[in-house]
Amino acid sequence: MKIACVLFFLLYLQEVLSDLQYDNCGYWVYSKGFGLPEYTERRVLNDVTVYYHDSRTRSKMPCPDWINTTAGKEEWSIIQFWSDHNKYIFTRGFQSATQQFNLTGSLSDQNIYQVTGCCSLYPNGTYRAFITHAFNGKDFLSFDIYRKTYVAVVPQAVQYKNQGESDSFTVDETAAYYKKTCLEQLNIFAQAPEVLVRKAPEVRIIEQQKAGSITVTCHVTGFYPRVVQVVWLGPDLQPVDEGVTDVLPNEDGTYQTRKSVIVPEEDVGEHTYSCVVLHSSVPDNITRVWVVEKRSRIAVWTSLTCVCLLVIGLGFWTCCRSRDAVS
Ligand SMILES: *[C@@H]1O[C@H](CO)[C@@H](O)[C@H](O)[C@H]1NC(C)=O
Ligand SMILES: *[C@@H]1O[C@H](CO)[C@@H](O)[C@H](O)[C@H]1NC(C)=O
Ligand SMILES: *[C@@H]1O[C@H](CO)[C@@H](O)[C@H](O)[C@H]1NC(C)=O
Ligand SMILES: *[C@@H]1O[C@H](CO)[C@@H](O)[C@H](O)[C@H]1NC(C)=O
Repeated sequence: MKIACVLFFLLYLQEVLSDLQYDNCGYWVYSKGFGLPEYTERRVLNDVTVYYHDSRTRSKMPCPDWINTTAGKEEWSIIQFWSDHNKYIFTRGFQSATQQFNLTGSLSDQNIYQVTGCCSLYPNGTYRAFITHAFNGKDFLSFDIYRKTYVAVVPQAVQYKNQGESDSFTVDETAAYYKKTCLEQLNIFAQAPEVLVRKAPEVRIIEQQKAGSITVTCHVTGFYPRVVQVVWLGPDLQPVDEGVTDVLPNEDGTYQTRKSVIVPEEDVGEHTYSCVVLHSSVPDNITRVWVVEKRSRIAVWTSLTCVCLLVIGLGFWTCCRSRDAVS
């Protein structure tokens, strides 16, 4: 039963990783007083910036070489066109928000209007999209692509909502973009060489002795892309940190993560434990078996003995010293 469950779980994991989750996101920022370009636009597929534009540059980023289809090139010119239109409507957002919050919006104050729009394709084929606007770091407004309405998060956003909804061209185009075009773009961007890069993880097992148990950590590093699954297999394992693990960036653009479990000392040497890593860079998996060295137990006793001897030694030393002091 247990084995069947484990097998099922692994099959499920393999299924999950047979493909990746793709996020095609746009980040638009209009700010004043931060020393940044007034307006920036960034389009990012997973962790890779595919398109960048800001108000200091007059020309738009040219179509990269890896886009070599007619459809892809057309899509690129649409992005370039929208850079200007987006600048116009998000500047309006900035002005509306500063006014409604009774701020001057001048260069001597720091104000920032941020728009994030993402569409995601999950490995199971589910497609999702969202758009949010934030002002000075707080949620301001969102856009419902199916109802074609803005949702004001704070009363100060009602004015922008009304103004925005009266611009039916932008409303229709935005809804159409997130329903369909964003996914087409995602498929084009997914061909970027930086997105296609795969780096296999290095897997290492680290053990730490503690009274009555051993904590074993599976350290996984140097992998790309970010999505990874790390599983410990073996009986009586207790997760550390509620089994929650973060995936952290390395300086070279790869990622690392770790998963720790506690093995009760009475089980040490009785069973085999293994760390299984699933990642899109390797066709099957990377399995590291934790081999318990016989000296593990001996080591505990050895260190205990050492501590005892040290305590006795210290005892003698202090004893002698105080006697010296008296005489
Ligand atoms: C487009 O680029 C891909 C990979 O860079 C290449 O395999 C393909 O042959 C190219 N297609 C055309 C029409 O040039
Ligand atoms: C802005 O000023 C108006 C008029 O003085 C006032 O009614 C409103 O409550 C103020 N809004 C905020 C967010 O302080
Ligand atoms: C597909 O995966 C997403 C994200 O994990 C999940 O939210 C959604 O419910 C899944 N859909 C189906 C039909 O399984
Ligand atoms: C790992 O891959 C090997 C083949 O390389 C396979 O025999 C084994 O069942 C896989 N293990 C897990 C836990 O997926």
